[in-house]
Amino acid sequence: MFKNKKIVVVGGGSGIGYAVVQKALYAGAQVVIASRTHEKLDAAAKQLGGRVQTEMVDAADDRSVTDFYHRVGQFDHLAITIKPQLPSGRFIENDVVAVMAAFDAKFWGQYRLAKQGVQYIRENGSITFTSGIAARRSYHGYSAISAMNAATEALAKAIAIELAPIRVNTVCPGFVDTEPPIPGRAQHVMALSPTLPLNRLGAVSEIADAYLYLFGNSYSTGSVIVVDGGVTC
Ligand SMILES: NC(=O)c1ccc[n+]([C@@H]2O[C@H](COP(=O)([O-])OP(=O)(O)OC[C@H]3O[C@@H](n4cnc5c(N)ncnc54)[C@H](OP(=O)(O)O)[C@@H]3O)[C@@H](O)[C@H]2O)c1
Repeated sequence: MFKNKKIVVVGGGSGIGYAVVQKALYAGAQVVIASRTHEKLDAAAKQLGGRVQTEMVDAADDRSVTDFYHRVGQFDHLAITIKPQLPSGRFIENDVVAVMAAFDAKFWGQYRLAKQGVQYIRENGSITFTSGIAARRSYHGYSAISAMNAATEALAKAIAIELAPIRVNTVCPGFVDTEPPIPGRAQHVMALSPTLPLNRLGAVSEIADAYLYLFGNSYSTGSVIVVDGGVTC
């Protein structure tokens, strides 16, 4: 389905991004994975049998993003799945500098990558951001995360009308199982969401399906696909 398409996944060395990369390769795309850490990218490329191009980029740094796109050149679809250190303390106790640093990577990182990436995206191409369920439900200790995820969704909708025909969408994941699993995480999530209909964490591959849909569906723009096991019911 994506033969002769080039897909760039920033944050593709682990987690949800890595699952997007696996599915994009399976669908026949040429894939570039990017993040800050050479070792992580190398390990991911090895695991994928060397079938990907790897590039270093720090989404929190303008110059790094500019140089990254010069190296990558023209491409079709951009997915951004970066996750910085996310401040999860109570609102009145959170360190503002730490919150701003997280915003700089997750929100402004997506902003920078979209803004600078537009000129490299081919006709019928797309940008897919990642938000998170805290954009639409409140949880104790998640104020910073809620704000950056909601800002991400708002940005995608706003620029979808300016960048058309390039499409801009967002995937909003619910709580996902990490690799390797973090001990106690499932219990923590169940305590936060006692009425979660599907009663389990999501798998990264279940979230990744939404990115592949958005790359391929030529009538979706300004959309948010929520993949959350029903936590917002
Ligand atoms: N996991 C969940 O339960 C969950 C729930 C809701 C939403 N989400 C959202 O889904 C996205 C992916 O989450 P995940 O759990 O799959 O994350 P993850 O496994 O931690 O992967 C995130 C990737 O982002 C890269 N990264 C971090 N800061 C970066 C920067 N400044 N520039 C470039 N790359 C950077 C990291 O690589 P380097 O360290 O090499 O840079 C890492 O490979 C995030 O936006 C997260 O907020 C996740």
